[in-house]
Amino acid sequence: MVEFMTIILAFISILTFAYLVKYLSNQGSLHKLPHGTMGWPFIGETLKFLKPHRSNSLGSFLQERCSRYGRVFKSHLFGYPTIVSCDFELNMFILQNEGKLFPVDYPKVMHKILGKYALLLVTGELHKKLRSTVISFVSASKSESNFLHFVEMLALSRINSWGSNCKQVAFYKEAKRFSINVMLKHLLNINPDDPLAVKILENFENYIKGFITLPINIPGTTYSKAVKARIRLSSIINDIIIERRKVNIAGPVEGGDLLNLILSKQNLSDEEMVSIVMDLLFGGYETTSKLLSLIVYFLEGAPNALESLKEEHQVIRKSKLEGELLNWEDYRQMQFTQNVINEAMRCGNVVKYLHRKAVQDIKFKEFVIPAGWKVLPVLSASHLDPNLLENPLEFNPYRWNDENSTSKKVAPFGGGPRLCPGADLAKVEIAFFLHHLVLNYRWKMKANDNPIAFPYVEFKGGLLLDLEPTGTTLRKHS
Ligand code: HEM
Repeated sequence: MVEFMTIILAFISILTFAYLVKYLSNQGSLHKLPHGTMGWPFIGETLKFLKPHRSNSLGSFLQERCSRYGRVFKSHLFGYPTIVSCDFELNMFILQNEGKLFPVDYPKVMHKILGKYALLLVTGELHKKLRSTVISFVSASKSESNFLHFVEMLALSRINSWGSNCKQVAFYKEAKRFSINVMLKHLLNINPDDPLAVKILENFENYIKGFITLPINIPGTTYSKAVKARIRLSSIINDIIIERRKVNIAGPVEGGDLLNLILSKQNLSDEEMVSIVMDLLFGGYETTSKLLSLIVYFLEGAPNALESLKEEHQVIRKSKLEGELLNWEDYRQMQFTQNVINEAMRCGNVVKYLHRKAVQDIKFKEFVIPAGWKVLPVLSASHLDPNLLENPLEFNPYRWNDENSTSKKVAPFGGGPRLCPGADLAKVEIAFFLHHLVLNYRWKMKANDNPIAFPYVEFKGGLLLDLEPTGTTLRKHS
């Protein structure tokens, strides 16, 4: 017994000594923990951090702390001691060093919803393997005429469905319908009128709600419905894979959807295939529709930019034959459209912050980021930083005429090894939708429906628009 007590005491002494050495060396070093407050035990300052605010502002939590403690501060968020970074240089360092110093660290509650093979969660070789499949699909398909044609047809079919007598439209819903229809067609070759599309959409709506609710997994809660919706979606996609395989046995399949590509890969398990489809459905649905809605919102308050945008699309339309569809060359002519898209991403902040953690003590300027702490790079902070951009609160697409300089200060698609692989798809879809929208309609918001960081962008009123046809005849496509 005495021996046992001696071992315990020796162990405690070693731990105390190690702690003291670490404490004293931190005291002595020039590097210190950033200032900040930790809030309540466990929940810390999470609720204050998540308090909704306009997505084209920093929100009171970040605003107050940045002015009190500086652009890098400590807090306690999502159950962990956290370093919050609103500093562009540090954010880029964090993102570039993903995997080495700052691996992804999405909250555990998201794992159940996203699934264990989700690209956002997996690391190392598995991440490289799944990501390379996604990248090769996006880069092969983004300029393919088949893809461009159905994107335009789906945009036209949404806009035509409003008809020439339509006075009002809930635009956010329309944008969501458009982007999910594009993804279903592009990934699984499912058309909007297919009963399977309706089934997937229903489950998808429940699935998405799981990301913005309390993670209480008991029957009847939104979270538990989301988890179940994910299971049903996985099984629907799995069935589609089995069916497609049967066709593939008979020979190569027509069409270039994602499923064709992943079925041709020998190195993916069925579970991984399902997960890739889910990743792209999720990534491609929410973000694209939010961005399209943000553009419509911002353009209403920027008549000059809207006029420049319209002129650009009128020139492109005039260069085409009656009813001729857009092609990759037309897309490359849409320079000002790119400015509008970039500026709406900067001002609207579709993705406000990312989740990372530090795997070792890391020194940055006079600070130390301690090993094991959560690290949140806030992307919106540099987008709205008056030290980096002139009048950052103003929606001004013309600032992107100097793209080289402006693009170095913003990172709406993240960066480093996890840079968004779907960025180019989202931009093409939006550019083609805008082409027909600005040529056919003028719009006015019913009420000022500010985009809210919830923390994902939301339009509480659904972005209700009063519409007025511009006089251009709508082209009819089946
Ligand atoms: C407005 C449009 C979009 C924005 C602002 C956006 C933003 C982002 C950001 C910031 C990340 C990095 C996440 C991190 O580092 O933790 C990301 C990753 C990702 N995005 Fe997007 N995204 C958009 C559109 C899309 C589209 C259209 C797709 C798919 C078709 C997509 C699929 C993905 C996937 C799969 C990842 C995970 C990448 C990885 O972990 O390697 N995104 N996106």
